[in-house]
Amino acid sequence: MTTPPTGRPGRIRPRRLRQSPAVRRLLAETRVHPAELVLPVFVREGLAEPRPIPSMPGVVQHTRDSLRKAVAEAAGAGLGGVMLFAVPEHRDAVGSAATDPDGILNLAIADAVAEAGDALVVQADLCLDEFTDHGHCGVLDARGRVDNDATLVRYADMALAQAEAGAHLVGLSGMMDGQTGVVRDALDAAGHHDTLVLAYAAKYASAFYGPFRDAVESALEGDRRTYQMDPANRREAAREVLLDVGEGADVVMVKPALAYLDVLADVAASSPVPVSAYQVSGEYAMIEAAAAQGWIDRKRAVVESVLSIRRAGADHVLTYFALELAGWLAEEI
Ligand code: PBG
Repeated sequence: MTTPPTGRPGRIRPRRLRQSPAVRRLLAETRVHPAELVLPVFVREGLAEPRPIPSMPGVVQHTRDSLRKAVAEAAGAGLGGVMLFAVPEHRDAVGSAATDPDGILNLAIADAVAEAGDALVVQADLCLDEFTDHGHCGVLDARGRVDNDATLVRYADMALAQAEAGAHLVGLSGMMDGQTGVVRDALDAAGHHDTLVLAYAAKYASAFYGPFRDAVESALEGDRRTYQMDPANRREAAREVLLDVGEGADVVMVKPALAYLDVLADVAASSPVPVSAYQVSGEYAMIEAAAAQGWIDRKRAVVESVLSIRRAGADHVLTYFALELAGWLAEEI
């Protein structure tokens, strides 16, 4: 495209497109709709009352009861889904609670489906880190390293437990090689052909997960750099997406979002399947902290950040702001 000659000064006035709320509304290239928002929620075994998460103001660890209310609210607000995370009372080396049908995550899935299963997509995090006593996303070998293939066996069992509990979608966030194919095969072999697999295809080893580690009382010492991606890498994300799509992923994700909009734009341009992005706990906490100081306008920052993630190419966005943002969007419609 060549730039047209402007001719007489003032003939071409891009500002005409910005002159009023009505004109801007008509011509906006990107919109955010509640159906494109997914609310991540935490449930903690053994709680009598919801418990605030200090590093995520406004976000709580739910009891089973309060989780049901949150899911009903999410459905009422027209959200596209909820993503469930759970903190068990007891942890062990292999994350037994993750595959126990009476484990807190599987009970919470059933609760959520019973509460609002027709109105939104009930999604479950499929990863072992909340359930292991060492806090890693997989099981460890004799030398203390994350054992990829032994972990895949656990993921297959976990996927079955989640599907049996009624999960519509399993979110594979562990970054083990081959996890998407193994989980797809396990689900299909058990007749769960309709269970969607969301692959956290390009998940980076990020400092922005900090508050989440509080939210799930993470036992991790050290980091996840041997399985999550190096923040330096852009091309590698394309490879991860290709692998996951080849293994049968229904949706792929880029995570975190704001610091990886270049990766998101690449993935959105080439992915044959829908693309999700996760505005993670640290992104949430940064906005909340700056807003609490009066340094940024909270509402505008929330709207702008999620809009930017959509503009970069995400088809839908996981965000802790989902419910509040959906409320603001409804006022505008
Ligand atoms: C793994 C998982 C994590 C997040 C989502 N799934 C933590 C991690 O990889 O360390 C982070 C989400 C967030 O920070 O909001 N179960």
